[in-house]
Amino acid sequence: MSKQSLTITDNRTGQIYEIPIENDTVRAMDLRQIRVHPDDFGMMTYDPAYSNTAVCRSAITDIDGERGILRYRGYPIEQLAEKSTFLEVAYLLIHGALPNQAQLAVWISRVMRHTYIHENLAHAINTFRYDAHPMGMLISSIAAMSTFHPEAKNVDDPQVREKQIWRILGKLPTIAAFAYRLRIGRPYNYPISALGYTANFLYMLDYMNERDYEVRPEAARALDVLFILHADHEQNCSTSTMRMVGSSRADPYSAMAAAAAALYGPLHGGANEAVLRVLQNIGSASAVPAYVERVKKGEMRLMGFGHRIYTSYDPRAAIIKKVAHDLFEVMGTNPLTEVAIELERIALNDEFFISRRLYPNIDFYSGIIMQALGFPVDMFPVLFAIPRAAGWLAQWLELLDDAEQRIARPRQVYVGPSVRDYVRMAERR
Ligand code: CMC
Repeated sequence: MSKQSLTITDNRTGQIYEIPIENDTVRAMDLRQIRVHPDDFGMMTYDPAYSNTAVCRSAITDIDGERGILRYRGYPIEQLAEKSTFLEVAYLLIHGALPNQAQLAVWISRVMRHTYIHENLAHAINTFRYDAHPMGMLISSIAAMSTFHPEAKNVDDPQVREKQIWRILGKLPTIAAFAYRLRIGRPYNYPISALGYTANFLYMLDYMNERDYEVRPEAARALDVLFILHADHEQNCSTSTMRMVGSSRADPYSAMAAAAAALYGPLHGGANEAVLRVLQNIGSASAVPAYVERVKKGEMRLMGFGHRIYTSYDPRAAIIKKVAHDLFEVMGTNPLTEVAIELERIALNDEFFISRRLYPNIDFYSGIIMQALGFPVDMFPVLFAIPRAAGWLAQWLELLDDAEQRIARPRQVYVGPSVRDYVRMAERR
């Protein structure tokens, strides 16, 4: 067995260092001993955008980007998508194991008992302008929740933590539905817990006093699977934000508002919205080749393609493609599907995409399903944020219980001017 260490020779000094290797990583702090002069700061690693830096040990989500593998707590995403429900998966992520019957019943009842939001928060949502983006409303409302539940700042109290978890998972669909209803100028529908997580959400969005109103079970199930697929994805931009803010011991609402803001960006959770706009702009399958040429010329990126971690097909995209197919069989097809399938076919056979290992990611097909379910495009990132809250919370708990974690504080390589004297205004050129 080879020695589990790295031998580094500093050619500036001829000094040799032996650095231990654990889990194929070296500790960045072990490099600090490498210095030319005793009073030097010591060696750091430079890793803009954290492309090759592990910031934590995590037992939640396992991704093998080369082989297209995604597992939550060891369970393959394909099995969870087929056999589980979103709330069960949320329990799994947060508690680390699948619940037994009694545990699941208690969990569902706790989350669904926390679906009502404070009336003042409902009034606050009312004050947004008629065209406010629902993601902006969601981010602000999550932050506002900390003012309604001030005890949440006791992050070291396990009971307090647990209660905020029920509240967040329970209330997010209500906030999202209210934001949507405000946009369409309709009164809010208050939650009906007995309907179940996604059916209740669809009810709050859609119900218009119809006598024979029923949520279509196929729609609720498709949304549930979509939620399972979005529930966690290890240390992505928004999850790292949740951990970063959480490391300052901020309450979970404040940390999650920041995480949701990170998710809003078009390169992260905003990509599904961007994909649908692209498909709408392309308009028809025959216009796809011309669009692909423009992408290859560097005029724009092909949204829904590429991933920092997956260098093969995103396993979530494969599941979602099938969910879309099954949903369209019962609810009628989405005309943009044809454009998407043609875009995928051309891109997967094009040297530009092959050489860069650019494959469809989860966002490529998720928007098509969301549109088929009747969601307007600007609700798409919200539909990503609701289930991702389960992952954010699981990661937040793991962070709080990790004795190795402290307040997050990256280093920098300063490249600005060295010291210079202040120049009075009259003397400045
Ligand atoms: N279309 C065209 N070219 C692309 C794309 C794309 N979507 N993505 C990457 N490239 C090219 C890029 O131009 C570069 O080419 P070159 O080597 O010639 O300069 C090469 O591929 C590597 O790109 P990169 O920017 O170094 O890759 P990254 O790991 O920094 O970016 C990404 C990852 C997801 C931000 C990027 O692929 C992208 O912008 N995709 C479109 C947005 C998108 O679909 N985002 C959703 C991600 S999945 C949801 C989630 O988990 O958040």
